[in-house]
Formats: sequence, C-alpha cells, structure tokens
Amino acid sequence: SAAPAVNRPVRALLWRGPGAPLEIEPILLPALGPREVRVHVRAAGVCHSDLSMVNGTLAPPYPLVLGHEAAGVVTAAGPEATVAVGTHVVLNWAPPCRRCWFCGNGQPWLCETAGVPTAARGATADGEPLHVTLGLGALAEEVVVGDHAVIPVPAELPFETAALLGCAVLTGVGAVHRTAGVRPGESALVIGLGGVGLSTVMAARAAGADPLIAVDVTDAKRDLALSAGATHFLVSGDDLSSQVRALTERRGADHSFECVGRSATIRAAWRATRRGGQVTVVGMGAKDDMVSLAALDIFHSARTLRSSVYGNSDPDRDVPDLAHQVLAGDLDPAALITDRITLDESPEAFARMSRGEGARSVILL
Ligand code: APR
Ligand code: ZN
Repeated sequence: SAAPAVNRPVRALLWRGPGAPLEIEPILLPALGPREVRVHVRAAGVCHSDLSMVNGTLAPPYPLVLGHEAAGVVTAAGPEATVAVGTHVVLNWAPPCRRCWFCGNGQPWLCETAGVPTAARGATADGEPLHVTLGLGALAEEVVVGDHAVIPVPAELPFETAALLGCAVLTGVGAVHRTAGVRPGESALVIGLGGVGLSTVMAARAAGADPLIAVDVTDAKRDLALSAGATHFLVSGDDLSSQVRALTERRGADHSFECVGRSATIRAAWRATRRGGQVTVVGMGAKDDMVSLAALDIFHSARTLRSSVYGNSDPDRDVPDLAHQVLAGDLDPAALITDRITLDESPEAFARMSRGEGARSVILL
C-alpha cells in the first residue's frame, strides 16, 4: 500500500493571542480534500482587517494565521476540483455558496456562509489546531482552500497586482461603481487613504468624480492621494465639513466614502455630505464603536447611509474583469504598493500600518 503523504510544514505569520508578538512559524496544512486546491502563495498584501484581528478591534480565536489578500499558483488539486494545477489564481475571502437566499437574490457578497472572520484549518508544528483569517490564512508560503475560493486570472498578470485585486481593489472599485454608482461630474470625498481608500480614489477618478477630495490624518498621504487622482487633499480635523463645503459650492459632497472603519469618521463623512447625498461605509469598524446621529438631522438631511461589503461584488465575475482592466492599462493597483517585503519582514508591516504609514505592504514569496 502507498506510504502516507508527508505533510511538510510551511512557514506562516501566526498570532498566538493578546499580547503575543506576530511571528513566522512552521504550520501544518490540512490534507487536500476532493474539492480543494493547494496554492503556492506568490504575493500577499497586509490589509487593515488583518491588523483588526490582532489589535483588539475584533476578538478572533487563536492561534491564528493572518492574511486574506493574496495570489499564487495552484500546485495540487483534489480529484473533483475544478481548477487545474499550474493555474494562476487570486484568493477569494468570501466565496459565495450559490445556494442561499442572498446568492439567489443576486447579492453573493451577502452570502449566508461566506466571509466568516476565521475558520479552523490546519495545525501548528506541534499539533495545536489553527484558525485562519477569513478562511484563507494567506500570509503563508502555501494554503489549502476550497476550489470555490480561488479565482483564475491570466498568467501575465503580476502576482503583486493580482493579490491586491482580491481585497483592496475589489473593495474600493466596487464601492464606487457598484454600491454608490458615482457618475461623471459628481463630487466625492474619500476619508482614510490606505490601500482601500486609495483604491477608492482611483476608482472615483475613473468614474469622473470632480472635485475628488481625499482626506487623511497627516500630510504624509498627500502625494499618494494626488497621484491616485484626487483633485484636492485635506488633513482631517473639526472643520472638515466646512472645507468640503468650500470646494462643493457650499453644499457638501454628492458622495462620501469612509475608508477607516471608525464612528468618528463615519460621522465626519455624514456631516460633509450634501442634503440628499450618499455616505458609503467601506471601513470595517468595531462592534462596540457606536455611531450617533441626530434624529432631526437624519430626517432633514435626507442623506443615504449604506455600507459596501467586498464592494457589493461577485468576485468570480469582477476579479477577472479587473485583471483585464489592469492588462489593458486602465487600472494600476501597483501604485498602491509602498513596501515590497519578505514574509519575515511582515510583522514590521503591521507596525507600519498601525502607525498609519505607507499604503500597501506586499509580501513577495
Ligand atoms: N481621518 C482620516 N483618516 C484616518 C483617520 C481619521 N480620523 N484615522 C485613520 N485614518 C487613515 C490612516 O492614517 C490610514 O492612512 O486611514 C487609513 C487606513 O489605512 P490602512 O490602515 O492601510 O487600512 P486599509 O487596509 O486601507 O483598510 C481600511 O477598510 O477593509 C476595511 O478593515 C479595513 O477598516 C479598514 C478599512
Ligand atoms: Zn482586506
């Protein structure tokens, strides 16, 4: 009879709980199921949602493998998997079931089973069960995932760009085009200029937003904002609403995008939006961070407040479409990358992100 397959450990970025440092450790991936694939991760971004797992914003189980924004190559496929070995893929952190009410209603981003914050999968080198971020745990040399959690993309697409399509870019582009529906000449405000906010700026520019006002806490993001296509850059403060009104014929913005994930910035976006305008919440906040709005203002301002989950997108349809836009030269996500680093350097990328420095750090493997 055949010898049992040896499960060679792979290296991954692991969090062992509150107070513990982020460390690269060997982990054991689960055996490949019939509809699963093994992916050699070639590029993985560090997203604020990963930071939210470890900084107290969320309370995930641990030990936890971080990472959910990645691309790579399929190196093994179970007998019933629909994706072949050698295929270049983007990982999907919210693969829809295609069977629930929301999927049937044309809203796969709201799928009842997709987008779970963590899942049990694999083990530490000494056999302790592991959890993985958003079903992926993509800050690792390799992952084992269901075939519905990978999206084939053209092999010409650079891995670092492909990785960003899987979270920041799909989120930002979808928020602008699918959730808000920005039209040419409408004014737009984007608060928070990390990978998600800068993707939102790029998409709003492509949609013809004008003026396109980008906001962050310090001047450090000014150049990135202007090169992503913002017409104006503002440092956030108490007078944000009046500064935005000064640029929008005193009305306030037609569209505001909150790309931080905090009640204070949701309120700032709300106040800076015109009567009848739309506020789109893109950032993922904490469950106890309450947003308070005056009832009279909700009535009188006639604004719409909505959220955008994974860009209100169907990743299986929209990621390949974004890949073609990149290859056609119509979209340049590489402009979001401020740091290209190794897996060993990934803890420092979390530290930079918590200080609000840079935009995307991408780990190349
Ligand atoms: N006003 C304006 N900008 C702010 C504020 C504020 N009060 N507080 C923080 N920011 C800025 C930070 O300086 C940083 O530039 O928001 C940006 C956030 O960027 P990242 O930390 O890189 O986060 P990103 O990965 O872009 O994600 C943003 O979207 O998907 C969600 O969970 C994610 O909530 C997070 C959000
Ligand atoms: Zn993300």
